[in-house]
Amino acid sequence: MAKVFITGSTDGIGLKTAEELLKLGHDVVLHARNQERAKEAFAASFGSVPVVFGDLSSLDETRDLALSADKLGPYDAIIHNAGIGGGIGNRVLTKDGIEKIFQVNVLAPYLLTSLMGKANKMIYLSSGLEAAGRPRFDDILHEQGVFDGMQAYSDSKLYDVMIAFAVARSWEGVLSNAVDPGWITTKLGGPNATDNLDRGAETQIWLTEGKDPRSVVNGKYFKWKQELTANPTAYDVQMQEKLLEICHEMTGVPFQV
Ligand SMILES: NC(=O)c1ccc[n+]([C@@H]2O[C@H](COP(=O)([O-])OP(=O)(O)OC[C@H]3O[C@@H](n4cnc5c(N)ncnc54)[C@H](OP(=O)(O)O)[C@@H]3O)[C@@H](O)[C@H]2O)c1
Repeated sequence: MAKVFITGSTDGIGLKTAEELLKLGHDVVLHARNQERAKEAFAASFGSVPVVFGDLSSLDETRDLALSADKLGPYDAIIHNAGIGGGIGNRVLTKDGIEKIFQVNVLAPYLLTSLMGKANKMIYLSSGLEAAGRPRFDDILHEQGVFDGMQAYSDSKLYDVMIAFAVARSWEGVLSNAVDPGWITTKLGGPNATDNLDRGAETQIWLTEGKDPRSVVNGKYFKWKQELTANPTAYDVQMQEKLLEICHEMTGVPFQV
């Protein structure tokens, strides 16, 4: 039985992953942005499963979340699942003054990774759109030109793979991998998505359980349990280090080694 922390478990793929892991007999710690969302999402189905809170578009709340999640650890697996899509229209700044897609999708998992105790398995949700990611370290918050939400999202999902791979090469004894869940019918995936929630959750569950020897690996990128090659930039150690440096500067928290 594994103890698993899943961010963004109030909806979509994260909720499905939590439900399936619980059915399989694992201990799950859920995460909701606030009490209200937890009540809406969990009231009927989850009973006494522990929930921790924090809005990932706030650096302070994300730091507090790291502390409260850690109190319920240690974890065998942490699934960095929470995310927002690129269709949010105009460029939105959080109250920290940071472009929202970057803060929720990249800085939040970076902060949690850097502040929380290490789990044996770290799983980062990326997307097939990471292939279209173009690192722009001179304009990482998309301040220049016309804002393109899908480009910001694609970039953020490439950065998630880079964080997964940086953890993979830096944390001895920890297995860290990234997952493209497919195009899944959720709030984020939209109604035209081609694949169902079971498909979206299966790889994270497979990696968490580690029953298949093919799932006991480090520094890989998977879709539907098949290893894929990620965007070449994801493997570039110098680029990974630059990203970590930028995240350190923005959060004041160094990458945990
Ligand atoms: N669906 C797809 O087709 C697809 C494809 C590729 C990759 N992915 C990736 O899969 C992951 C899960 O996506 P999904 O499709 O399941 O999306 P979803 O249904 O929209 O669920 C996203 C989860 O993240 C939470 N979340 C978002 N912003 C948050 C914030 N500021 N603070 C705290 N929690 C926040 C949501 O909370 P609320 O319920 O309160 O909003 C929800 O629990 C994401 O990382 C996404 O990039 C999805």
